[in-house]
Amino acid sequence: MTKKVLLVGNGAREHAIAKKIVESDAKLYSYMSTENPGIADLSRKTILGEMSDFSKLNQFRKVDYAIIGPESPIAFGITNFLEEKLDIPTCSPKQEVARIESSKIFARCLLDAYDIPGNVPYFICRSLRDLEDAVKEFGLKIVIKPDGLTGGKGVRVYGDHFSTFREAKDYARTLLSTSDEFLIEEKKEGKEFSLQVFTDGKKIVPMPLVRDYKRAFENEEGPNTGSMGSYSLAEHTLPFLEKSDIDKAINIMEKTIEALEKQTDLRYKGVLYGQFMKTTDDIYLIEFNVRFGDPEALNVLQLLETDFNELSHQIIDGDLKKASFRPLSTVCTYLVPNGYPTSPRDAQEINIKDSIDIDLYYASVYRTKTSLRTTKSRSIALVGTGRNLEEAREKINKNISKIEGNLHYRKDIGLYL
Ligand code: AMP
Ligand code: GLY
Repeated sequence: MTKKVLLVGNGAREHAIAKKIVESDAKLYSYMSTENPGIADLSRKTILGEMSDFSKLNQFRKVDYAIIGPESPIAFGITNFLEEKLDIPTCSPKQEVARIESSKIFARCLLDAYDIPGNVPYFICRSLRDLEDAVKEFGLKIVIKPDGLTGGKGVRVYGDHFSTFREAKDYARTLLSTSDEFLIEEKKEGKEFSLQVFTDGKKIVPMPLVRDYKRAFENEEGPNTGSMGSYSLAEHTLPFLEKSDIDKAINIMEKTIEALEKQTDLRYKGVLYGQFMKTTDDIYLIEFNVRFGDPEALNVLQLLETDFNELSHQIIDGDLKKASFRPLSTVCTYLVPNGYPTSPRDAQEINIKDSIDIDLYYASVYRTKTSLRTTKSRSIALVGTGRNLEEAREKINKNISKIEGNLHYRKDIGLYL
């Protein structure tokens, strides 16, 4: 019988998940905070509502399972609500284990408590005195992080966001005015990579590794963004990693999932995404996310051969087997409104020619009666695949000019490895 699936979220990542859900012959139901036209077109029914408000979810009682795209509803406990109140099995982690993302202090302490490698030296700060102690130990090369979710906007890195002790202190003061504690980490330098795994809480199935490009402009210049694009290779590895690096990162993920169960008595189910950094001396865990990455989901779902709904059921049932991914390279490029991220031009018209022959995902755009328009966030993602990066990049280049509007994109995604 055709399955009914509820998807929560409304970005390009969720558009890619939606496509996989319907591809394997299921009926899609969607809950979004603002309408993503791509997801809406694939859905049998769409309800709009806040990610922190679960009161409308009972209208989806008849679905076979649910999957949650973004971290915020997971941190608010949407999985607990769907499973415990509505009896809807959910392929995303419960609030208690999701603390691995929603509390950066919890994550660092968990790694320490269970002797998991890859932890960055850190300080939990409860006063300006603690900040001074941290700087005595690490010097000014630190990263200041609020403990909770900030939608990627709260982390301040020495050299990028501040360069004097005074600026660090000002930010620390701001954080202490709204919370009791925050985190200081030693700043590491190296190349970052994204490792996403499917897990049923016991077994993990790694997905192809992805590298994302966070800076707004070419050559890694300009402010940090939600990401301007990403690539993955046909080999499913990355050029700057040895096999031993990947084994270390996988081991950190496995040990973390084990530790989470010991700590909470709950199994972590869904996708766990570790953001890692390879430095000259080792592999470090920068952050955990309790969901697919955006745009990393767009790279890997493009390649996933295993039936997505089947995989979700295996995760829910605690019976995860394996997943196979096509041996192709992928390049994902985001088109963003001109001025993004500092002064993005919203309400700009976008024209997409029909002749586009690669996958296109809507991120944050809205539809009027006659047109598609930008918001202040990223607009559209294109994903090209090929036997190698050059082929994948070529497909992006061939198609991206078929999207017209007051838009900007990086031409070097997949060029600088
Ligand atoms: P997070 O939200 O913790 O992933 O941090 C956002 C970004 O800040 C990361 O993608 C890194 O580029 C940078 N960052 C975070 N922690 C560190 C660290 N300990 N050393 C160097 N860079 C970091
Ligand atoms: N690629 C960054 C994120 O999904 O958080």
